[in-house]
Amino acid sequence: MVFLQKKSMNILIMGSGGREHAFALKIANSKLTKRLYVAPGNSGTQQIATNVPININDFEEVKRISLELGINMIIVGPEDPLVSGIHDYFAKDEQTKSIAIIGPKKNAARLEGSKDFAKRFLIRHNIPTASYATFTKENLNQGYEFLRTLTPPYVLKADGLASGKGVLIIDNIDEAKNQLSQMLVGEKFGRASSKVVIEEFLDGIELSCFVLTDGVNYKVLPTAKDYKRIGEGDTGLNTGGMGAISPVPFANNELLNKIEQNIIIPTIKGLKKDEIEYQGFIFIGLINVNDEPKVIEYNVRMGDPETEVVLPRIQNDFVEIFQSFKHKTLDKIELKIDNRSTATVVLVSGGYPSNYDKGIKITGIDRVVDSTVYHAGAIQKEDSLYTNGGRVLAITSFGDNFQQALDNSYKSALKINFDSMYYRKDLGFDL
Ligand code: AMP
Ligand code: GLY
Repeated sequence: MVFLQKKSMNILIMGSGGREHAFALKIANSKLTKRLYVAPGNSGTQQIATNVPININDFEEVKRISLELGINMIIVGPEDPLVSGIHDYFAKDEQTKSIAIIGPKKNAARLEGSKDFAKRFLIRHNIPTASYATFTKENLNQGYEFLRTLTPPYVLKADGLASGKGVLIIDNIDEAKNQLSQMLVGEKFGRASSKVVIEEFLDGIELSCFVLTDGVNYKVLPTAKDYKRIGEGDTGLNTGGMGAISPVPFANNELLNKIEQNIIIPTIKGLKKDEIEYQGFIFIGLINVNDEPKVIEYNVRMGDPETEVVLPRIQNDFVEIFQSFKHKTLDKIELKIDNRSTATVVLVSGGYPSNYDKGIKITGIDRVVDSTVYHAGAIQKEDSLYTNGGRVLAITSFGDNFQQALDNSYKSALKINFDSMYYRKDLGFDL
């Protein structure tokens, strides 16, 4: 029977970042993959798969192309299509219902799509998190009152998706009130800020954990820590992520055990109790406050650049893992984790996350031998590679510890060049 399964799957990965390139490398190496497509993909995925230039938020288009290409499985990289309900769209349609969608349905994707929904879920299931209250423009004055009961800094979160920009951390109460009003009344983040969650500030060090679930069983994947700020010493604007390491050195067995008992298990049980069917990745953002991990956010997908450090450490066949979702047999799979550390350093275009130029020629990738270069905002034109986004490349290396892994990535970074290239040289500084 086993040989019948060989090379039977046509797989489509949705997205265009380093995360999707990392998924594509794993999926391309699966013994079960027949043909691999990435929509829309980038110059990296183009080397190992066929790029499909479609708008992944246009579900009709995704359906059309999936039928045309005989797709059996779709792996959804980013959150938007999940939050808009791509899984439900495919499941409800006779023509597409047999296509496996790796990522949760709309109802479950609210864990990322609505901060208020996520907070209510956390509180309902007794999962440690910051205390909070939610406001709309109708009760703006109560929002001001609530701010006065908190000690600074003040944490304001737009309820909906805001491309990672919807969280404001403000020292001054007048500015916090002003921003609250701008979010609720001024629609600072459009509809995403028609509700605002105001939260207690948690003081501690951040880490992320990743869980894969088939709806019944779960597997805990390696931890990671990403660096979100553009500037060294964690200063300046927030970005999509400037680098990451895995595992997180301070995540000892005691802390990991607390995370599993107090957070992961109650999350899986809570979903069941609420009758929320969930298949896919759960990415839990945590802050460790005096050795007590607390949830700051759920994401319903893998992180970017966290994927570029987590996936290389997992040696399993990913298609086999995803296929286990169908009959909920993830428990039969034993994860094979590489014990070494990984680090990724993200090379960005100068000016990012504000304005930056595109179309700048990239050289030197072919000189890198000891690292994997994941392409993100990069595009191939004829024989050359050009920048096509803020985050351009993610350089991942292994090492006996995170410092060695980082050193290897920094050595590889020296071989790559494009005008205005920038990267943080202090990753891991806080560990
Ligand atoms: P989020 O989009 O929810 O991940 O929030 C963005 C960033 O804001 C997080 O990575 C944290 O650094 C920070 N943050 C969010 N919530 C809190 C909180 N309650 N206390 C302290 N920092 C927070
Ligand atoms: N690196 C953070 C994220 O993917 O949301």
